[in-house]
Amino acid sequence: MNIKSNLNRTFSPSNNIRNIVRELEPYKPILPFEILSQQLGRSISEIIKLDANENLYGPSPLVSDVLSKLDFPHIYPDPENQTLRQFLSQYTEVPYENLFAGAGADEIIDLVIRLFIDPGDSIVDCQPTFGMYSFDGAVNGAQVLIVERTLDFGLDTEKLIEVISKNNPKILFIASPNNPDGNMITKEQLRVLLNLPIVVILDEAYVEFAGLENSYIKWVPENSNLIVLRTFSKWAGLAGLRVGYGAFPTEIIEELWKIKQPYNVSVAATAAAVASLKDSKNLLDIVSLIVAERERMYTLFADMNFLRPYPSWGNFILCEVQSMSASDLLAKLRSEGILVRYFDTDRLSNHIRISVGMPRHTDLLTDILNDINGSI
Ligand SMILES: Cc1ncc(COP(=O)(O)O)c(C=O)c1O
Repeated sequence: MNIKSNLNRTFSPSNNIRNIVRELEPYKPILPFEILSQQLGRSISEIIKLDANENLYGPSPLVSDVLSKLDFPHIYPDPENQTLRQFLSQYTEVPYENLFAGAGADEIIDLVIRLFIDPGDSIVDCQPTFGMYSFDGAVNGAQVLIVERTLDFGLDTEKLIEVISKNNPKILFIASPNNPDGNMITKEQLRVLLNLPIVVILDEAYVEFAGLENSYIKWVPENSNLIVLRTFSKWAGLAGLRVGYGAFPTEIIEELWKIKQPYNVSVAATAAAVASLKDSKNLLDIVSLIVAERERMYTLFADMNFLRPYPSWGNFILCEVQSMSASDLLAKLRSEGILVRYFDTDRLSNHIRISVGMPRHTDLLTDILNDINGSI
């Protein structure tokens, strides 16, 4: 073929997109607040958003303070996130050198997969769990080995050992507390898993709601195959600003620095995260209110004939819906301006997950649930 005819060949840009990407499910956007408000015919302030485990108390008041007077928003942020990492080191009691910040834990999940995975390598996902592990795995060409959680959503350690020894996967993802049910890994389980030839990524996005004494972040420097991820989205109410972090063993973090985008955490997100750490005592008091509310919600749900709640260490409660369809319940709540998360997978069929909001949100929700309870 001469040069000219080769350049004239029929060319379809989309055919050049990676096969892995073309085989992914189409993108399903989540509706932004403004559109939801139009759809529901309610103002934003009348919508009770209990579907994404956000913190309805919002951020520390120090955050709006620092955001209103950012000194250098026109200058790129520090690629090493030094100030934030110093404050994080105090908060986590993990050495500064072992800490890494990202645009949410989500960014770090993707980075870690790109750090370890060549196309065709495998990762282990303990489902049901947070969807980003399998999503980022698939985007990066990983084979995702699913090890189902047990009936109470605990880890099936025996099965994990079997799958890891047979398939030689590179990474094991474990959320603790797990999203969507709120179950936690035990110390014994973590010890067993750390003895396996695999990198364990323990996602502690919700650990503040379980109590910081239940975190394993301080184990990181002594365990060359343990990575712990955290976020400001939940306990610190900064989901919209996108800031998270991870603790990494020295040999891994050295490699991670090489693949990081230089300016991944914005100046605004950094300032908000530092302000939150300065105000951590007050924020953790709010976390205690959310935990108390979670326990109140659990009791209220357990008293309903048609809900079976699972005990949770997070800021959400998973419920099996009985004697009615969960999608009807979702629609009913939605029509009243309350959003909850619905699952349509086999394992979670007829389940919903309700985030914990403020007491007044629980009261409004309970009024509607009581009506349904009376009519079933
Ligand atoms: C287990 C888990 N990890 C991580 C995240 C995302 O955290 P971030 O907002 O920091 O990206 C979520 C969000 O829902 C989550 O449930």
